[in-house]
Amino acid sequence: MSQSKSTVAVTNKIPDAGIKLFQDKFELKIGPTDRTLKAAELLSFVKGAAAILPLLGNKIDGRVMDAAGKQLKIVANYAVGYDNIDLAAAKKRKVIVTNTPGVLTEAVAEHAFTLLTAVARRIVESDKFLRAGKYKSWMPELLLGPQLQGKTLGIIGLGRIGSRVAEIGALGYGMKVIYFDRGKKDRELDKKIGAEAASLRKILTASDFISLHVPLTPQTRHLIGRVELATMKKSAILINTSRGPVVDEVALAAALQHKVIWGAGLDVFEFEPQFTPALKKLDNVVMTPHTASATHEARDEMAILAAKNIISVLAGQAPLTEVK
Ligand code: DGY
Repeated sequence: MSQSKSTVAVTNKIPDAGIKLFQDKFELKIGPTDRTLKAAELLSFVKGAAAILPLLGNKIDGRVMDAAGKQLKIVANYAVGYDNIDLAAAKKRKVIVTNTPGVLTEAVAEHAFTLLTAVARRIVESDKFLRAGKYKSWMPELLLGPQLQGKTLGIIGLGRIGSRVAEIGALGYGMKVIYFDRGKKDRELDKKIGAEAASLRKILTASDFISLHVPLTPQTRHLIGRVELATMKKSAILINTSRGPVVDEVALAAALQHKVIWGAGLDVFEFEPQFTPALKKLDNVVMTPHTASATHEARDEMAILAAKNIISVLAGQAPLTEVK
């Protein structure tokens, strides 16, 4: 007797590297390539699924899990961050949740430096200046910015990505690295690159550049607000490749406008895909549309890891990267 195949609901098109692992093992449902399913659409999209593979823009709560049905076994998030998934609701329903750690570390760390150098060396502003026909002659004080070498880099959140950013800063740019992660000390990293654990206040007051690498939790929401921005050096540059709500975006826009800090590089926004309109007018901010992990390599590996998690769990085996 032939058994019917389990349904895997992939909310948006992901790279083929992951899709092809499913081969003809499952009934595959793939959402649109260019837009996020609306909440109501998502409820009907997941109906009957044994596995859901959502993106970070899909809120997966108890309602969605119930709409899928009792056969739902796994939600395999296509992201390392999982603030879009209600873990308590999953636990209650015995649904396994997985994410994609490790495979995007390099991509995001590289992007943090891409933003930092772009802000420091005023790359976007320079490009606009040139295209506007304003480059008339070479001048000693045209479009100056800070050098990275020898400066103090403050890392907030010392997970995989924060640690990699610390290494690149110290080994690649000769920066002094200080870090804050709820009192955690990483003695190996300290030894390897001469990094030092510090208080949050020390990070804010002593850093020339601050890079955020914390997950979004109730404790980290608005970790950086008006008071913290005012505590930073006037010459400071803030980089956020973590989650938008970690920064109070309206306060940041005001701080950039009034030169409370020197600049910011943002890959994430408080109410994505929207962003605070005031940011649009400012030359001292460089923004990208949540593309820090957007390398061919990282996105393929994310697809492979999410697919492998699903294949394992639906075969009755342990997931590779479970979130608990
Ligand atoms: C993640 O994985 O959490 C990023 O924000 C997107 O790659």
